[in-house]
Amino acid sequence: MLLEDCRTDFPMLAHLHYLDSASVSLTPVQVADTVREFDLQYRANVGRGVHRLARMATLRYEEAHRTVTRFIGGADGLLVATRNTTEAINMVASGLPWERGDRVVTTRAEHQSNLLPWLRLRECGLEVVLLDPLFDGTVPLAAFEEAIDDSTRLVAVTHASNVLGSVAPVKEIGRLAHDRGARILVDGAQSVPHLPVDATDLGCDFLAFAGHKMLGPMATGVLWMREPVIEPLLLGGGMVEAVSDGEVRPAAGAGRFEAGTPNVSGLLGLARAIEYLEAVGMEAVRSHEERLVARLLAGLTACDGVRVLGPGEAEPRIGVVSFDVEGYHPHDVAHVLDEAVQVLVRSGHHCCQPLMEHCACPEGAVRASLYLYNTEEEVDLLLATVGELVRQG
Ligand code: ALA
Repeated sequence: MLLEDCRTDFPMLAHLHYLDSASVSLTPVQVADTVREFDLQYRANVGRGVHRLARMATLRYEEAHRTVTRFIGGADGLLVATRNTTEAINMVASGLPWERGDRVVTTRAEHQSNLLPWLRLRECGLEVVLLDPLFDGTVPLAAFEEAIDDSTRLVAVTHASNVLGSVAPVKEIGRLAHDRGARILVDGAQSVPHLPVDATDLGCDFLAFAGHKMLGPMATGVLWMREPVIEPLLLGGGMVEAVSDGEVRPAAGAGRFEAGTPNVSGLLGLARAIEYLEAVGMEAVRSHEERLVARLLAGLTACDGVRVLGPGEAEPRIGVVSFDVEGYHPHDVAHVLDEAVQVLVRSGHHCCQPLMEHCACPEGAVRASLYLYNTEEEVDLLLATVGELVRQG
């Protein structure tokens, strides 16, 4: 399927310009149809019954696990369906067998989801080290090398920044962690939707990401683990083989970590979203975003009164660019873009307040985030509108 042809699969694009996919992407009709088909034709619980609908739903649900696993090259690990990246990271933070004095290494550039679960561990006697980014928001490899010591149990790091778009060298960080006997968790919320990501090649121990940022249904996410070394977050129906007199024999596989009725249609929709992305090709998605982002960066940096956050143009980036416009609050810029030209962007702290403060943006910034359905014309429309604001300001 040609990337250029996909825009018509997203009905909302008929009347607006959506540049907020880092928050939630749009979803194509094919995914909506998959969810609707489940609800209207074979809706049933999974792993719990033998009637025809239960069997069909269970088969499709298991197949969806396999599709998502294949997409991230995760055949040698275990894939658990979650509600979002946040839940996946919390499962690791609360499920690893910690001991007092264990060290967790992360950074001040993280999204709150990959920061707050680790900070809470300080209350249990863990040492949580927050590495300082450089002014452009990136954290040098040498800082990880210095911080990861023999007491480090986990390094938790974002693959691609939701504010700066920068891509961290997670493979190299993982090697440093493994050399010291630590594990690495990669927050792939912004990388898995936009770049070809292979968990085996990355060498990570945990990979967390969200389906609703990659064309899937709302509140769908994934925790992939190389080894199931955590205790489940929830206990209840569906996660046991047998319970007798207080003795619990946990279910094998992902089921052990998916207590309660799961979001079956959500995972089926995510698997359909993945098939859609595969049909377009993740390399095509990446190079399309690279082209658009180069255009956006060139236009914004040429605009007096606009400051672009993050690393320079030569550094690898996903389709995310944050900027501030002198004399305007970020929310005002976002309002003007919406009201005047139907360009929807996110503004504010982007759930990354420490990073925004570090970048000297106490009020936050304006963020344009691009995906496969965006066009050069939309980038130009944003640039023209921001340019007009600067001239008026
Ligand atoms: N992490 C999401 C964003 O950056 C919510 O918008």
